[in-house]
Amino acid sequence: MHPNVGFIGWRGMVGSVLLQRIEAENDFAKIEPIFFTTSNIGGNAPSFAKNHTKLLDAYDINALADCKAIITCQGGDYTAEVYTKLRSSGWSGYWIDAASTMRMNEDSIIILDPINRHVIDKGLDNGIKNYIGGNCTVSLMLMGLHGLFKHNLVEWISASTYQAASGAGAANMRELLQQMGSLQHSVADLLSDKHSSILDIDKKVLEMQHSADFPKDNFGVPLAGNLIPWIDKDLGNGQSKEELKGYIECNKILGNSIELGGEGNIVVESQCIRIGALRSHSQALTIKLKQDVSLEDLEKMIAEANPWVKYIPNTKEQSVEKLTPAYVTGTLNVAVGRLRKLAIPNCINVFTVGDQLLWGAAEPLKRMLNILLDSGRI
Ligand code: HSE
Repeated sequence: MHPNVGFIGWRGMVGSVLLQRIEAENDFAKIEPIFFTTSNIGGNAPSFAKNHTKLLDAYDINALADCKAIITCQGGDYTAEVYTKLRSSGWSGYWIDAASTMRMNEDSIIILDPINRHVIDKGLDNGIKNYIGGNCTVSLMLMGLHGLFKHNLVEWISASTYQAASGAGAANMRELLQQMGSLQHSVADLLSDKHSSILDIDKKVLEMQHSADFPKDNFGVPLAGNLIPWIDKDLGNGQSKEELKGYIECNKILGNSIELGGEGNIVVESQCIRIGALRSHSQALTIKLKQDVSLEDLEKMIAEANPWVKYIPNTKEQSVEKLTPAYVTGTLNVAVGRLRKLAIPNCINVFTVGDQLLWGAAEPLKRMLNILLDSGRI
């Protein structure tokens, strides 16, 4: 009999990508999926369902407790509401979660198995039951720079991120496109006249960005034709929560201490910026290496670290074509390029870009399910 695996939040953006990936790899053949809902109890389960064709109540602790593993992409509020109740009921199954709520808990592992399979395996052996997907920017950075971490070359990292709208949610992606449409619409007549003044166009675009009618319920400000130099909460010390995650999650994933100066600790400083890409996050990284390494060796280490890294030679032609959100979106490739040595001893520059919804969100969850299945734990 196949193990019951519960899915919550499968209709949302990350959840939908997750189901697509499970289907694409034929993993539904290995499980009995049980689909839960917070809004449509008794409705029809999606076509992937086998024996459980009706949607169950995502707040029904007994129904959840029938699952050997639960994968939730429902969000942090759901996790906060349900997780403790479920564990208090005596449930000892595996909780796989995309939300950040439990990431830093001592009894949770942040999952990114190409990088930290050893941490995951140790957790499993020690009876840890909570496996949480990491922050998308952190996961994509680790996937791209895997080779440098593997060779223990990284002393510190300074990151400037260029994060896509999808990281803020599906409604934000839609809003970005509405904003783009609204800007175009505001100058459509001027654009169709090739003799019109670009400064008139620019003025009208600016007026539209500042107008009360501009669609900005989700972002609160224009993103189209603009950028937003702040992501997630204000921690009150000049840092955003997204920027703190870059440091603590990176070290937790690697199995390092998260205390500054702690064992094997790598300082990751970030400035996180939302830009008008749709679903792939980019980052420009300055990295201090522990020792001098030739460019050739660095290229080789980066390119060979895992099957998903795509090393892009540092030429204009290759970079503008292949090192972009538009090029990698929808693929599991994490492109890494713009590699060069800086005029600062042992410092290099790198640019990396990857799909925020795949390696940044759904893929590590899907792979964790497989780790449980393949190891016979469920
Ligand atoms: N926090 C990320 C962002 C997404 O806002 O882009 C998920 O990790």
